[in-house]
Amino acid sequence: MDLKNYIASIENYPSEGIVFRDISPLMADGDAYRAATHEIVKYAEEKQIDMVVGPEARGFIVGCPVAYELGVGFAPVRKPGKLPRKTISVSYDLEYGSDTLSLHADAIKPGQRVLICDDLLATGGTIKATIELIEELGGIVVGCAFLIELKDLHGRDKIEGYDMITLMEY
Ligand code: PRP
Ligand code: ADE
Repeated sequence: MDLKNYIASIENYPSEGIVFRDISPLMADGDAYRAATHEIVKYAEEKQIDMVVGPEARGFIVGCPVAYELGVGFAPVRKPGKLPRKTISVSYDLEYGSDTLSLHADAIKPGQRVLICDDLLATGGTIKATIELIEELGGIVVGCAFLIELKDLHGRDKIEGYDMITLMEY
């Protein structure tokens, strides 16, 4: 199955010059969603994953079914003020300005093997911040899985040395 048939490309959204790669047609098709999920599960199966982590919000869509299939837990990485208990946070640079991501302080136990899932790798800021959060808690990031990689933005340079899989490239 060619998963790219299920990605909508919207020009000049959310701002002039950006081509937004929308995964909602893929999510809307049961066979495509399952095929994408199973490809990530196959990648993860030999890695002895203890926990899946996904950044808000589209990381939940990709990560939760993978965690379910692997039979492990899922921990959400969220924007500030959304997690109710004790958190750790990290700030990271965007193209303009900065943003912050948080994780519950007890979400990962030291030594746990973690798979990070997200829909898309762009500049790599989100994945780098997510790795920092997991490692601050003593977790080991053994894989990163994305549906889409935007090659021109060189996000993979930010996570050199970490194992990763991307299902589609633009
Ligand atoms: C998008 C996307 C990734 C991130 C990739 O999320 O889902 O998480 O941007 O960009 P980066 O590699 O440059 O960090 P966004 O922050 O738009 O949040 P959303 O999933 O809630 O829409
Ligand atoms: N997140 C960052 N860049 C994006 C893009 N071009 N399409 C969809 N999500 C994104």
